[in-house]
Amino acid sequence: MEIVEQRLSEQREIVRESQRIVTAHHQTEGAGFVVRRPFPSASLSFVDPFLLLDEMGPIEYQPGQAVGAPDHPHRGFETITYVLDGEIEHEDSAGHRGVVGAGGVQWMTAGAGIVHSEMPSKQVQRDGGRVHGFQVWANLPAGLKMSQPRYQELGPANIPVATTDDGLASVRIIAGEALGVTASINTVTPIVYQDWTLRPGARVQVQVPADHQVVLYVFAGAIEVGASKVSVADGQLSILGDGDWVGFSADQPARVLLLGGVPLREPVARYGPFVMNTEAELQQAFADYRSGRLGEITREARIG
Ligand code: FE2
Repeated sequence: MEIVEQRLSEQREIVRESQRIVTAHHQTEGAGFVVRRPFPSASLSFVDPFLLLDEMGPIEYQPGQAVGAPDHPHRGFETITYVLDGEIEHEDSAGHRGVVGAGGVQWMTAGAGIVHSEMPSKQVQRDGGRVHGFQVWANLPAGLKMSQPRYQELGPANIPVATTDDGLASVRIIAGEALGVTASINTVTPIVYQDWTLRPGARVQVQVPADHQVVLYVFAGAIEVGASKVSVADGQLSILGDGDWVGFSADQPARVLLLGGVPLREPVARYGPFVMNTEAELQQAFADYRSGRLGEITREARIG
């Protein structure tokens, strides 16, 4: 039996091809910060299991200009914040508090519900500076939507980096595995999250499990994807087809996010900060929020 399975896996050496390319649109969020958002949009509501991909900035704030997303709730999914430049300060109704700095990740499983704020740090608000990062929303399966909220925060030292043999491509492994290196984050559902930096001439071949849906988002330069070398440029998302390998190359400096996850194939009922399976659950989420059952951020202890 083992030999048969091994032979089967040897036969499946398929490189995923780009099936669809979507250009990010600009969207204003929170208290007025602008994001580049490949989805959701009118033509692409989600890429199962991912519900949203936002590139925040890059923006150069003047002193006193930086804005964020003050207190707001979430239920039914996970928010994954990855900071490239600047600092984001986070507080939530479960008592978590922290500053995510450059190269850091905050992985919040909202589950049954949480109220949080995501703001530029006091220093960025006071002094200004460059802010650049990503927020991804990953859906939770029906059975985990009402789970206990969980919060994981990792500094850059806890995000492993791997490099291709020729040194032309390196990857920060936020979730899952790449080039034989495994991330330290502990995900609720199987998720692959990689941040690639490509130098001219880089060629990447990375294995992603065949049951994952995979997207590539280019946020600097341009790449060519798959054996058919489809060009994907800065601000574009490529949705990949089936296969075992993801392959892309660049003849110029480029940055690419690779996201992969197992599609949930469940109904999605979403409105604003809530993502459930049915309209009734959505109504319940709003009712629970209005009646305070999602909690509130306690700030009494902090004076000054
Ligand atoms: Fe949020």
